[in-house]
Amino acid sequence: MATNRTFTMIKPDAVESGYIGGILEMINAAGFKIVAMKYTKLSLETAGKFYEVHKERPFYPELIAFMSRGPIVAAILEKENAVEEFRKLIGATNPAEAAEGTIRIKFGKNKGENAVHGSDSDENAAIEGAFHFAGTEVF
Ligand code: CMP
Repeated sequence: MATNRTFTMIKPDAVESGYIGGILEMINAAGFKIVAMKYTKLSLETAGKFYEVHKERPFYPELIAFMSRGPIVAAILEKENAVEEFRKLIGATNPAEAAEGTIRIKFGKNKGENAVHGSDSDENAAIEGAFHFAGTEVF
């Protein structure tokens, strides 16, 4: 069953480049409601835990170093069929392959530094949201 919520992060590359406003504008324009949001920074250890599913991948050390190198914006978004709709809005993992009108084609740099994260399933959306937010921080 489709959930109404997904989890996102505006990644360090996009924050460094001053893209927070532009990305939030696209998220709002696409009809997502922000139900939780924080400006924060992951430690290497926390990034390692968040991306534990990728632990065996060759890019894991690079990924967690990148995700902990500067602040991020973490948010929970609400919309009908949120996970799928948000993945359409952000586009392919590799910005060079992302469709016109997507966040990654506009703001992503490469496969690693691709501006935003979007949950890949309803189950992971719930896990990732709970990783970053207490129940009292979700409205
Ligand atoms: P994200 O959707 O946040 O989840 C896993 C991340 O791993 C992905 O975005 C990319 O940033 C990163 N990633 C995936 N494939 C590669 C790769 N080949 N090289 C570097 N980073 C990658």
